[in-house]
Amino acid sequence: MSAVVLAIETSCDETAIAVLGDDGLLASEIASQTALHQKYGGVVPEVASRNHLIKIQPLLTRVLERCPLEQVNCVSATRGPGLLTSLLVGYSAAKGLAIGLDKPFIGINHLEGHLLSPFFGESACPRPSVGLIVSGGHTLLVRCLGVGAYRLLGRTLDDAAGEAFDKVAKLLGLPYPGGPVIDRLAKQGDPARYELPRSMPGNANLDFSFSGLKTAVRYLLPKLTGDFLADLCASFQEAVVDVLVRKTVAATKQVGVDLITVSGGVSCNSRLRKKMIEAAQRTGLALKLANPVLSTDNAAMIAYAAQQRFNRGYRSDLAEDADPNLRLV
Ligand code: KG4
Ligand code: ZN
Repeated sequence: MSAVVLAIETSCDETAIAVLGDDGLLASEIASQTALHQKYGGVVPEVASRNHLIKIQPLLTRVLERCPLEQVNCVSATRGPGLLTSLLVGYSAAKGLAIGLDKPFIGINHLEGHLLSPFFGESACPRPSVGLIVSGGHTLLVRCLGVGAYRLLGRTLDDAAGEAFDKVAKLLGLPYPGGPVIDRLAKQGDPARYELPRSMPGNANLDFSFSGLKTAVRYLLPKLTGDFLADLCASFQEAVVDVLVRKTVAATKQVGVDLITVSGGVSCNSRLRKKMIEAAQRTGLALKLANPVLSTDNAAMIAYAAQQRFNRGYRSDLAEDADPNLRLV
């Protein structure tokens, strides 16, 4: 049976809807709320959920202009993790559509959406691999054995990598979200100018910690004068990237697979992409980086994960609720 999946993603501050058919994307729309949250320096949950309510209907109308509802034979939405009141908007809308259409419904873990996104476009997904998921809310190293078969290898014990980028950007007076801004400024900077700590440097332990790095930047900042911004951004970014690359390679060797995947908003980072490519070449490992348009939150990755599950016979119970703390592993 063909699998035409309509997916809704509203876990944080992007309202996104996509339809994925067997031959590829039929529609993918994102209404970003970034500008709304910028003046608060971060996402305000109440503002986010109210805005999802405003955006979701016109977005759905736009998507359905490209793909009539009659073609859809599975409806899906992000079930968690995320902001509960935001999740509920997309999750309830998707359940309503599934009931109205009398089609199966599949709730998807947002992190599974990220994890599988580097395989987007492949029908035989995923190959055994080690996946680094680096986003604003999560930093995880996951062993991927197949769809729905994941093992935790390591995770951050405090801040997520994207959160560290955003918090350091805030310290530096840069706008939210800080990751892309630091990435841009760092291109003109010297990554070796400031020596910043690499937490938990040993490769045997695959957990991460980024809050000490953020504190180091906070204490260094008042001592700096002159033109330091680009060098500080580059040095901070290097400290994050260094640890991410080293532990991902170590995890891949420990597990004994030959494929690394990298996904989530921080996988857009140009230095991380460059250093991952170099490390893979050096160690002879294969590497799949998520396409940057599928790295930050989007519904195409949710539709892809749902399609993989649909094809394997998974279905969700409509009585199941959204879960802000849903775990992948
Ligand atoms: O995956 P995502 O859109 O949302 C979550 O699921 O959290 O990730 C957003 C995060 C933000 O922290 C943002 O600053 C970071 O991804 N980000 C970047 C870059 N682009 C987005 N961090 C570093 N460099 C970038 N180019
Ligand atoms: Zn995300």
